[in-house]
Amino acid sequence: MGDNTRATDLLIESVLQERRQFPPPKAFQAQARIASLEQYHQLCQEFAQDPQGFWGKWAAQELHWFRPWTQVLDWQPPQARWFVGGQTNLAYNCLDRHLHTHRRTKPAIIWQGEPGEVRVLTYEQLHQEVCRMANALRALGVQAGDRVGIYLPMIPEAAMAMLACARIGAVHTVVFGGFSATALQERLRAAQAKVVITADGGWRKGEVVPLKPQVDQALAAGQVPTVTQVLVVQRVGGHTPMTPGRDVWWHELQPTLSAECPALPLDSEQMLFILYTSGTTGKPKGIVHTTAGYNLYTHLTAQWVFDLREEDVYWCTADVGWITGHSYVVYGPLSNGATTVMYEGAPHAGNPGCFWDVIQAHRVTIFYTAPTAIRTFIKMGEEHPRARDLSSLRLLGTVGEPINPEAWLWYHRVIGGERCPIVDTWWQTETGGIMIAPLPGATPTKPGSATLPLPGIQVQVVDRQGEPVGVNQGGYLVVTHPWPGMMRTVYQDPERFRRTYWEQIPPRDGQYFYFTGDGARRDEDGYVWIMGRVDDVINVAGHRLGTMEIESALVSHPAVAEAAVVGRPDEIKGEAVVAFVILEGHYQPSEALKQELREHVVREIGALARPSEVKFTESLPKTRSGKIMRRLLRALAAGEAPSGDISTLEDQSVLERLRD
Ligand code: PRX
Repeated sequence: MGDNTRATDLLIESVLQERRQFPPPKAFQAQARIASLEQYHQLCQEFAQDPQGFWGKWAAQELHWFRPWTQVLDWQPPQARWFVGGQTNLAYNCLDRHLHTHRRTKPAIIWQGEPGEVRVLTYEQLHQEVCRMANALRALGVQAGDRVGIYLPMIPEAAMAMLACARIGAVHTVVFGGFSATALQERLRAAQAKVVITADGGWRKGEVVPLKPQVDQALAAGQVPTVTQVLVVQRVGGHTPMTPGRDVWWHELQPTLSAECPALPLDSEQMLFILYTSGTTGKPKGIVHTTAGYNLYTHLTAQWVFDLREEDVYWCTADVGWITGHSYVVYGPLSNGATTVMYEGAPHAGNPGCFWDVIQAHRVTIFYTAPTAIRTFIKMGEEHPRARDLSSLRLLGTVGEPINPEAWLWYHRVIGGERCPIVDTWWQTETGGIMIAPLPGATPTKPGSATLPLPGIQVQVVDRQGEPVGVNQGGYLVVTHPWPGMMRTVYQDPERFRRTYWEQIPPRDGQYFYFTGDGARRDEDGYVWIMGRVDDVINVAGHRLGTMEIESALVSHPAVAEAAVVGRPDEIKGEAVVAFVILEGHYQPSEALKQELREHVVREIGALARPSEVKFTESLPKTRSGKIMRRLLRALAAGEAPSGDISTLEDQSVLERLRD
């Protein structure tokens, strides 16, 4: 854990000035699934009285089982097994079971490409395509337990590929299309992927972003020897070199494949996916989720937090490359039989009103996006949403980073027309689904707070020893009871799993604390206010990045002797990347070199990690034991005077020089 006082402290200050509460709007509440705080408390009560009975009841009621479980939870901290002995299939729960109902002809996915084309897939059509894709994977040699890399733009095939894996028990590992060939290679190698599903390219801000060449580069010269085949979706057209014997076009294979592929009954704890995310070290961690618990948790939380109803058109703007895309573009909504919108473009893809066009065109009722996007919209001007008909909206959500009250209030007023509740949802790749959020028909909201933990979730704010801190005092956010959507391990690194999440706060008397890595406080009403990461993770435009990953990327450049990366508060992105760099002796600081280093990071990781600023320095502030004092660098990057204890700083003059 670092010594951080975070960029988000600034946010807390502005939060404190906004004290209004927003009760659930009457019209919304009248029709909500969970329509009062009493009902919420009753659910919490049910859980407290019988935690296993609580989850067992929901699992039996909400999912299809090929074989019932014999035990709801086997908890050998930190190892959890949920619905032990049961068999289910996530793709079956997302598709097949809806086919016997009126949902057969209901749109499952409404997709809009960035250039404007629209594809609607009913549950029946999606089922067929997923079966074909599953048969394709089988034809390419994929068996249950094999890992499949998915590197696709936001097109329906991304959801199909995930569901196809889930259907046959293969493990997907989706890599965000914005990651570079190097980052892709690292993830494919770590997961020992057998097959990669990609596309020739995708559209981004009016331009074609090539993807297949990145895959070629990642796999060049046998760098990822486990990969034997690449399935390529044609998205953009034009010439794409194919490697004979390895690469196969999806559109050539697809017509030859059967549209039937029975969903395999899978063990509850069958590994479902690995998703790489950033942590404290230079190497991303493979977060492992398994079948039944993840299915139940994303299903229930989607239903509760978004108050999903049959007629909803639900749009989550996340990319499937992130956990939000997994849980709340694909699995949660489809398991509930909802209509999920997929959009290929960015908030400012060509036209500043493009998001509002999507809402207007498809009569979207629920809209879920990131605070960064909202701040971008504010900057683009409210005339754009004002010029569209947004009256279909009934609920708004945010995710991924703290939302500043100004942005919350704008969202409420301009997008929500003051009639839509806002759900600020706190969770992580590791938690699988939403953990802390309002229930829109029940929980009064306070702008900037994710409010209360969901039923079945118990959190505390504690000090280093696990002692709860007082009301409104800052501390570490921990979860004190296992939940079905929790990560099961770090792929092939159970030690890292134990160390990172279960030993940061020492267990005592059999009580284990899941360490979230976030600082928080709880107010007099028990509302949780997230204060941001307390480790070396930064949050840039809602994207989670490890400072050490960026540092590793920088030092892999021949000009760089040493680098330290910190986040600086940024009006739009939340945080921006600032890199302090010590050059190798024979390199001279220059603007061109700064630019070169920024582009080097893009090549190594992706554009999302591009430093906003590179500062050359001759030394870095370090403790006597050689640890970089990031707290001081953060203050400098933010243009503030470093405060707090500097007595451990080895060379006091470093600060002076850095400030100059
Ligand atoms: O710091 C918290 C922040 O995002 C981190 C998790 O990032 P990731 O695993 O990429 O998942 C993002 C999408 C779930 C958290 O540790 N975070 C997420 N949601 C919120 C948030 N911070 C404040 N408020 C939120 N609603």
